[in-house]
Amino acid sequence: MAEVELKHICKSFGQVDIIKDLDLTIDHGEFCVLVGPSGCGKSTLLRMIAGLESVSRGELFIDRDLVNEVDPVQRGIAMVFQSYALYPHMTVAENMGFSLKMAGEKKGDIHNRVTAAAAILQLTHLLERRPSQLSGGQRQRVAIGRAIVRNPKVFLFDEPLSNLDAELRVSMRVEIAKLHMELGNTMIYVTHDQTEAMTLADKIVVLRAGRIEQVGAPLQLYDDPDNLFVAGFIGSPKMNFLDAEASGPRSVRCADGTKLSMAGLSAPLSVGQKVTIGIRPEHLKGRTDADLMLPVTVDVVEHLGTTTYAYAHTTAGQTITVELGDERTVRTGDRLELRFAAADLRVFGQKGERLR
Ligand SMILES: Nc1ncnc2c1ncn2[C@@H]1O[C@H](COP(=O)(O)OP(=O)(O)OP(=O)(O)O)[C@@H](O)[C@H]1O
Ligand SMILES: [Mg+2]
Repeated sequence: MAEVELKHICKSFGQVDIIKDLDLTIDHGEFCVLVGPSGCGKSTLLRMIAGLESVSRGELFIDRDLVNEVDPVQRGIAMVFQSYALYPHMTVAENMGFSLKMAGEKKGDIHNRVTAAAAILQLTHLLERRPSQLSGGQRQRVAIGRAIVRNPKVFLFDEPLSNLDAELRVSMRVEIAKLHMELGNTMIYVTHDQTEAMTLADKIVVLRAGRIEQVGAPLQLYDDPDNLFVAGFIGSPKMNFLDAEASGPRSVRCADGTKLSMAGLSAPLSVGQKVTIGIRPEHLKGRTDADLMLPVTVDVVEHLGTTTYAYAHTTAGQTITVELGDERTVRTGDRLELRFAAADLRVFGQKGERLR
């Protein structure tokens, strides 16, 4: 059952088209993450679903009801913003219950719902404090609590964790995953954080300039991107790209002269065809079944403790990121022969389309 369905949705601000003929179905209980470069329309899309922005063209359904003209409070959604926007003069309990009070709910009911939400979010001991007496993570939990008390069909999150420090982000990320398991509501979540997208999502939607580039499960997008944009956007550090030219139906010559053979390309390349070869940093550290080799010179080495990254260049000057794993002896200026498997290469045509 589709909980949220967008059909040919468009949004323009004046003459400027921001969302362009977008189709998307989000199932009941699904955790859907929207990602894409700054300005691609993620917040605009959430705000349209919430009813805070009008829909210029197309149809928006929530729980199978057409809601284009439905008032935000009637839509059964609750939104959590990056800035928590708590009322400073109210206690945590008052902040959480405010929307229910405005909706004319009974005091006892408000109390029960606030108490239940506070228990889920471990805010029970903080209910009488004011926002200024809370940490950033606690404030964000209050903002989420304010959404939970409304018992919405759909939760919308717009970068809810981006104001938190790195450690808190990790613990709040786990909290949100638990919350989704516990409540089972449909959640639509915008983030710039690769880890949040990969770990929280049932489904990731990659947006670019108001259009969908690809929709899929996190690992599906990671392993099997439809185009160069998704290949470059999903994954951190990014997939490496090498300019190359087909030297045979299933072989290419890179700009530095290195010859690579392709595995699993069903459509043959035409000799001379320009392509882009993609390979992820972790696939360059050398596998036992490595059948290809690319010589590079190391520019910079980063030791992260858990792994080591080398930033290197080919003889043609193309930059390459290599994940070295527990190999810690590599130094700037070293020449490496990167060994990798043909099966790990991804091939893209001139328009960025994936060649399979
Ligand atoms: N009220 C508005 N009037 C005119 N243009 C707007 C308005 N709101 C947003 N835009 C424009 O729409 C585009 C998409 O904005 P939006 O906030 O949806 O991007 P975003 O993907 O959320 O970006 P970010 O990752 O930076 O938050 C931007 O170019 C923005 O300038
Ligand atoms: Mg935004």
